[in-house]
Amino acid sequence: MKVGIDLIHFATSNYYLDLETYAQEKGTDPNKYLIGIGQEKMSIAPPDEDIITLSAKAAAPILDKIDKNTITAVLFATESGVDQSKSAGAFLHGLLELPNRCRVVEFKHACYAGTAALQMATSMVRANPNETILVIAADIAKYDIDSSGEATQGCGAVAMLVTKDPRILAIEPGSGYYTEDVMDFWRPNHRSTALVDGKYSTKVYLNSLKQAWEHFTESTGRKFSDIDAFCYHIPFSRMTEKAHKTLVKKVGTPVSEALFKSQTQPGQVYNRLVGNSYSASLFIGFCSFLDNAVQDLSNKRFGFFSYGSGCVAEFFSGLIQPNYQQHLMTTSHQQQIASRKALDYQTYLEFYHTDTFGQNNIVFSKNNLGPYRLMDIQNDIRHYVKTS
Ligand code: COA
Repeated sequence: MKVGIDLIHFATSNYYLDLETYAQEKGTDPNKYLIGIGQEKMSIAPPDEDIITLSAKAAAPILDKIDKNTITAVLFATESGVDQSKSAGAFLHGLLELPNRCRVVEFKHACYAGTAALQMATSMVRANPNETILVIAADIAKYDIDSSGEATQGCGAVAMLVTKDPRILAIEPGSGYYTEDVMDFWRPNHRSTALVDGKYSTKVYLNSLKQAWEHFTESTGRKFSDIDAFCYHIPFSRMTEKAHKTLVKKVGTPVSEALFKSQTQPGQVYNRLVGNSYSASLFIGFCSFLDNAVQDLSNKRFGFFSYGSGCVAEFFSGLIQPNYQQHLMTTSHQQQIASRKALDYQTYLEFYHTDTFGQNNIVFSKNNLGPYRLMDIQNDIRHYVKTS
């Protein structure tokens, strides 16, 4: 039985900070960002946008295409959780009016958790083909002002419907994984911003890729030449180039520049413009590949490398299904990115400092132009509203 991603859609915020504006403010060469880290813009969430509103924006168009009463579980991956006890999925469940005969849980391990949720959903459907599972990966990437991570912020949410006989991607059994207790990126409970040792993190990422790949080849018998396209976790898009170069070197198969590009480049188009979205980033990269590849990807095998600092990594694969093009939501993805408003640095700072972290008894000004917004927090209770 085939199991995998039946529908996929992502959402991002209505605002962005251009890295040229950022470079001007910081007095740095814009090419450091445009070329050096491979980023042009970063999506910025206004104070009345959080992972719940982003994920509702991501999931609603999928629910419009199915009977939402068939959803049996919501598996919500995030490292930007809004509550230490109640799962983000429970807020989303209410906002989207999902059926009560449904299980909801939150998954966390830095940028890896989306893959954990996807694999869990896949196993649940294999065990019971009647399950229809909504997997969410949503995050807002936030670092200290003037830290090296500040240029690699962003935000986004991906919603994936996991079912039997999927229309987009059949996930193949078997994967390679790797865990090591390291401190390359972390966010203690008292902080709203992540701490990162970026150079060290890059090293651990690349080592984890080699280890997960070895395990993948041992456990599945698949080789580099069996895979047509590669989607990597993208904290900043130049990381894809570093990762693919590392893998190519490890396997020792010569790859022409044209093949290298066709195997990786379509997957970076959106991430260059959205920025990091932690757990969602790998899957926004997948959407980017599907929407931007020039050739028909039917029956092509995709390799996915998921990396979460701290660290947990996994390499897995899937086969693109025939006629997948008919089920993509390309127009919505492109329109969202194109219709965002540019922020000047001052407004970016105002949004930045009105973070909902630690706030109580506050009513938010309406900046979020999406279909769902965070209205206020009263007596430590968050109130969301559907606006359209
Ligand atoms: N033109 C072209 N390239 C330039 C440049 C210019 N004017 N100025 C700098 N660069 C290049 C550098 O040579 C470097 O390239 P390299 O990676 O090939 O060595 C790159 O741009 C970055 O410059 P660097 O000085 O190393 O930047 P930095 O100290 O600000 O750190 C990151 C960059 C990405 C490490 C930092 O932004 C970070 O830590 N981000 C968070 C990453 C993260 O989230 N990790 C955890 C999850 S995986």
